[in-house]
Amino acid sequence: MSAPAGSESVFTYGAPGLKFGTGASDEIGYDLSQYAVKRVLVLTDPGVAATGHPRRVADQMARFGIEAGVFDQVQVEPTDASFTAAIDYARQTGPWDAYVAVGGGSTIDTAKAVNLMTTNDGELMDYVNAPVGKARAPRNPLKPLVAVPTTTGTGAESTTICVLDVLALKVKTGISHARLRPTLAVVDPALTMSQPAGVTAAAGMDILCHALESYTARPFTAYPRKAPEQRVPYCGANPISDLWSEQAMTLLSTSFRRAVHHGDDPAAREQMALAATMAGLGFGNAGVHIPHANAYPIAGRVAETCPDFHPDGYPDHEAMVPHGMAVSLTAPEAFRWTFASSPERHLRAASLLAPDHSYDGPDALPSVLADLMRDIAIPNGLGAVGYGEGDVDDLVAGTMQQQRLLATAPREVTEEDAAGILERSLELW
Ligand SMILES: NC(=O)c1ccc[n+]([C@@H]2O[C@H](COP(=O)([O-])OP(=O)(O)OC[C@H]3O[C@@H](n4cnc5c(N)ncnc54)[C@H](O)[C@@H]3O)[C@@H](O)[C@H]2O)c1
Ligand SMILES: [Zn+2]
Repeated sequence: MSAPAGSESVFTYGAPGLKFGTGASDEIGYDLSQYAVKRVLVLTDPGVAATGHPRRVADQMARFGIEAGVFDQVQVEPTDASFTAAIDYARQTGPWDAYVAVGGGSTIDTAKAVNLMTTNDGELMDYVNAPVGKARAPRNPLKPLVAVPTTTGTGAESTTICVLDVLALKVKTGISHARLRPTLAVVDPALTMSQPAGVTAAAGMDILCHALESYTARPFTAYPRKAPEQRVPYCGANPISDLWSEQAMTLLSTSFRRAVHHGDDPAAREQMALAATMAGLGFGNAGVHIPHANAYPIAGRVAETCPDFHPDGYPDHEAMVPHGMAVSLTAPEAFRWTFASSPERHLRAASLLAPDHSYDGPDALPSVLADLMRDIAIPNGLGAVGYGEGDVDDLVAGTMQQQRLLATAPREVTEEDAAGILERSLELW
């Protein structure tokens, strides 16, 4: 771990409080009573609201003298417009002393934005990452946020970011600041049992890419030394995030296919929930890189370019490439391209994910990924969701805007490199 002069020698690790296990979501009323709050807003999306879990969480509050409201209109794959609608609702019905997000990444991210914009002044775009927004830091502390994931995917309950689609610019980007991190993550695998198979598959690919990207990220020692005020939540691969990433891959190797094909298996669901939590704790500190940078334009341009793509398990009133699916589509080719930066890590990842084989060379990890994606019915590349050769330039332009993520890649990514990865991802097998 010793670093050359002028190189970084410090890494950081941040995490919310965590309550994990079946039944954990029955204790949220008590947990919030410890913060001396009087009014709590529970946020969710209509699909999760239909499971009854958000209402059950809200109903626990009365016993502790806490009034609870429910906002059940979170948009799946949220946008600046849907964030604003949720923020307006919270402002009109507030003030709220705390927030509870019961849902997937879409809900948890919306709750983070609501928490930010009901405790700080200005416009949403003031806080969005540059160059899309002004990347302003919040001045005031936020309220307690309890994040209760119902998907096994994003790890958003642990991270300091929220992701949104900026409709006018056809680009996905985020807000990133340490204060956005939830106060408490309550991960109850019982809430994930009702995920449709298509959601389990896409969200599970998100877990896998979080683990793989943080494991193969530029090591923290390969950055120039930072001053304390320059430190960012994502500091590159480091010994702590490596542990979480490796353990997440081991869990995925035994549970992922089973959770997709036998969603009623509680052991597989619990292992997936643990994998998502662990990968979130890893990437939430190390960072992610090329597959995530590519995913932003892939998801952001879908309405215009691929209006007919409606994945199973998601709301079907509009075209979408869900986040985990968008991330996975270029992952095999991205990891073929990053292989040379750390062959041993790529080969170790392949053997953690599919332990029964021996591995050699740059094709090992891409072929493990392609086998898995085929087995769980992820589309065969960008072509299968509706993109063609003629869309590559636009996608490259969108990828190159994600410099915050590309800075975590283990090699410098030029426009030609990004174009090559995207072109080779049009068809994967
Ligand atoms: N903040 C972060 O760190 C982070 C990281 C990765 C992704 N994201 C963002 O998270 C979003 C994706 O989140 P996601 O993959 O968790 O899914 P999601 O929140 O978008 O939900 C997907 C679908 O599954 C349904 N659903 C969720 N849980 C269910 C359950 N238990 N039973 C039945 N239906 C259920 C929802 O109603 C929805 O239709 C994207 O916007 C992505 O950009 C954020
Ligand atoms: Zn992700």
